[in-house]
Amino acid sequence: MFQADPQLSRVPGRRQPKPELDLKTASKQDHLRMVIVMDHQSPGKLDMQFPDIWLRDNCRCGECFLPQTMSRLPQLWNNLDTSVRVQQHSVDLDQEILYITWSDGHASQYPLAWLRVRDFSLANRTRYLSDFYRPEPRHWSGTDFEHIRREFQYRDLLASDEALLEWLDHLAVYGVALIKQAPLEFDVLRRLCNRVGFMRRTTYGDEFSVRAQPGASNYAYLAAPLPLHTDMPYFEYKPGVTLLHTLEQSDSPGGVNLLTDAYHVADLMRERYPEQFRVLCQTSVDWADIGHDGELEFHNIWRAPVINLDAEGRYVRINHSIPQRDSHFTVPLEQVRPWYEAMALFVRLAHEEACSFKTTPGDVLTFNNLRLVHGRTGYDDTDRNVRHIVGAFIDWDIVYSRLRVLRNAKSIS
Ligand code: OGA
Ligand code: ZN
Ligand code: ZN
Repeated sequence: MFQADPQLSRVPGRRQPKPELDLKTASKQDHLRMVIVMDHQSPGKLDMQFPDIWLRDNCRCGECFLPQTMSRLPQLWNNLDTSVRVQQHSVDLDQEILYITWSDGHASQYPLAWLRVRDFSLANRTRYLSDFYRPEPRHWSGTDFEHIRREFQYRDLLASDEALLEWLDHLAVYGVALIKQAPLEFDVLRRLCNRVGFMRRTTYGDEFSVRAQPGASNYAYLAAPLPLHTDMPYFEYKPGVTLLHTLEQSDSPGGVNLLTDAYHVADLMRERYPEQFRVLCQTSVDWADIGHDGELEFHNIWRAPVINLDAEGRYVRINHSIPQRDSHFTVPLEQVRPWYEAMALFVRLAHEEACSFKTTPGDVLTFNNLRLVHGRTGYDDTDRNVRHIVGAFIDWDIVYSRLRVLRNAKSIS
């Protein structure tokens, strides 16, 4: 049930010649050195494929792996012998274990179930990345919002792990979820965050109150319209998820929430305006928040593009806030005007693709602050007509971790 790659297979028991020092030849041959396991249980009964060097690196024996920390022991890497080869191999089908003896004399065993979920096939990697690593995001337009919009009950989230998982999964996939029927108490967000893990503290404290304040030190703390933005683009470690709890809502027509999936806006630009898309991905912008909150004085600045991509060209973060974009713009002169042209387009599309709704007291609006841009219309604030929103953040690392723990518990039970 086991064979080495026929092209590169070695005769078991015979020593392989040392690879030549011609790196080009070595890498041409070596990068393909594969162990193929024929697996009767894998989906479609396809062979599993594993690079031999990866198997050696991931040996599960007591010399190579420490079960109590679930982690690799580092000794092998003191002087990693990349020429190590499979000497002998066999599969015990009853026990479902792959045995390998290596050219350096080391012996390894791998449970087939362990190998199955680490198979290098495209299908398995895709399954792992979208089912377990992070749920695949689904981007939405302004008109899609009514279809993707979902509500969760506050008391369910506190009482049920199943509900908690559904909320976090929806937030990961669509970037927005509304929680209803929360009590009108200041500690609601803390209790929600504690269900997930813990709250993210920023220069505005743990929870922060958004309400019209005389002499406000943050633009959001005015009754003026708050244009579409992400929170805190001026942080390298920008908070991942924003939670906004409506304690009191304005009776005036204003105070309406605006939300846009900026990943959808980026999709539109990528498709229709590739040059402007490139400019927003490649022009570094200076973001800033300078001032104080209570006693704490701060000078926060961070430099990054509006659309941030990862090594595979996927969106990882959108930065946008008109009041919190610095007047320093530290790029070469010729990049300035093209950036303004591209940004004007981004802002126009973000407005066109916005959805709007007005929260009522007891609502908690939760959204992905790396992905969505949000804002609110202006409102009238008087002594008898106040608006009071409590805000807080959680980081995505904490959310994804809770999601995986909840998923594992579900699949075990
Ligand atoms: C903010 C904000 C939204 C609102 O304070 O950054 O987006 O509805 N507030 O007031
Ligand atoms: Zn080992
Ligand atoms: Zn905001």
